[in-house]
Amino acid sequence: MGLVSPSLLSADFGNLQRDIEMLNASVCDYLHVDVMDGMFVPNISFGQPVIKHIKKYAQKPLDVHLMIMDPGRYIDDFKRAGADLLTVHYEACTHLDRTLHAIKDAGMRCGAVLNPHTPVMLLEDTVQLCDVVLLMSVNPGFGGQSFIENTYNKVRQLRELRDRKNPRCLIEVDGGVNTSNAPLLYAAGADMLVAGNAVFKSDNPQATIKALKQNE
Ligand code: DX5
Ligand code: ZN
Repeated sequence: MGLVSPSLLSADFGNLQRDIEMLNASVCDYLHVDVMDGMFVPNISFGQPVIKHIKKYAQKPLDVHLMIMDPGRYIDDFKRAGADLLTVHYEACTHLDRTLHAIKDAGMRCGAVLNPHTPVMLLEDTVQLCDVVLLMSVNPGFGGQSFIENTYNKVRQLRELRDRKNPRCLIEVDGGVNTSNAPLLYAAGADMLVAGNAVFKSDNPQATIKALKQNE
């Protein structure tokens, strides 16, 4: 079974508690929390005060995806807000090695995120620090975009790098994931899938989460 992290960006913000309770009762593994600053990505979502409330109701660990410039400034804030896994973009960190260490030192699991245009080989010297590497399969900023097919190649390249340098690092994929491409992503080597629209726009979100976990 793969790991599934439904993205709360597609939840009903007016009924977050209800949607989190629906996820608590599902077989999902994490809750994916997308933080956007209107600078690194064109959109603004929510920050630590909202995450604190998400944490109050969530019975699954929080997978917090920071789409913000210079995320090293806010590591302790996100720890206090309740992040369990904190991922930062390669493109947004001047000192990625330092930032990954700081996340671990704050007591969270850490991960690096690559935009669709960023080659996997740029993680050659940091993958050994990562609990997770997240590959974006859309240009970040919005839910509901279509999946970029080149992601399969990147997952295969990352699988090779991960197996060689840090076999315990998980490969996560985010953007345009649905029940049709999920089996292909697992076959390419993914361990963990994020899904926003595919879950929240489905007639039966809990059944969709279950389907997204099937990797054979
Ligand atoms: C995109 C976000 C994603 C998004 C995924 O910038 O990082 O996590 O919520 O949503 P879907 O699955 O709808 O593409
Ligand atoms: Zn995300």
